[in-house]
Amino acid sequence: MKILVAFYSETGNTEKIARAIYEEASKGHEAHLKKITEVTAESLNDYDLVFLGSACHSTDLAAPVKKILDDLPRSPKFKLAGFFTHATLSPEDKFNRAREQFDRWASRCIVSFEKISKEKQIDFKGYYHCKGVPSPPIKEFIKNEILVSADEWEEYIKEIKKHPSPEDLQNAKKFVQEVLSKT
Ligand SMILES: Cc1cc2nc3c(=O)[nH]c(=O)nc-3n(C[C@H](O)[C@H](O)[C@H](O)COP(=O)(O)O)c2cc1C
Repeated sequence: MKILVAFYSETGNTEKIARAIYEEASKGHEAHLKKITEVTAESLNDYDLVFLGSACHSTDLAAPVKKILDDLPRSPKFKLAGFFTHATLSPEDKFNRAREQFDRWASRCIVSFEKISKEKQIDFKGYYHCKGVPSPPIKEFIKNEILVSADEWEEYIKEIKKHPSPEDLQNAKKFVQEVLSKT
């Protein structure tokens, strides 16, 4: 199978996940790793399976990734899988308001992948996401606008700086295996 891993990453978190996905996809397949600036919607048609990844920006997929999705033709021949990293907590985290944070500040990434896939009749194989440490301005934004107490901040900063963790990379590889098993 010919597989493309294309990603948008500003500070390197999503790139780490993209590299893990590429490493796993390369086992027994012809895999290619490209930055989003190196691909066009049309060029995705050269592949059987595309893993498309993004940093979460302003609650949604980053603009260059949305643009590629918007430009895709209907019923393309490739299958699609998505991945993204975000600086808010994950829904399964055992912290106060973790699910609420994720729902408000990152879940649109999932909605975008699913909505566009449905509209364009793309065979969408699911998504993977994990946390990624934010850059200083975003950290400040989260501290001032999202978190409600000093305790929440302590908890948050201790947790977020670990990500993407070795376990996140392993889980990204497991995701590739799951996608491949249903493709
Ligand atoms: C301009 C900008 C906006 C962001 N908006 C969000 C957001 O709405 N929700 C969120 O969870 N993370 C947000 N983040 C944090 C990033 O999604 C997170 O740190 C991600 O791991 C960065 O990935 P990258 O290192 O691949 O660029 C934002 C980051 C930037 C730079």
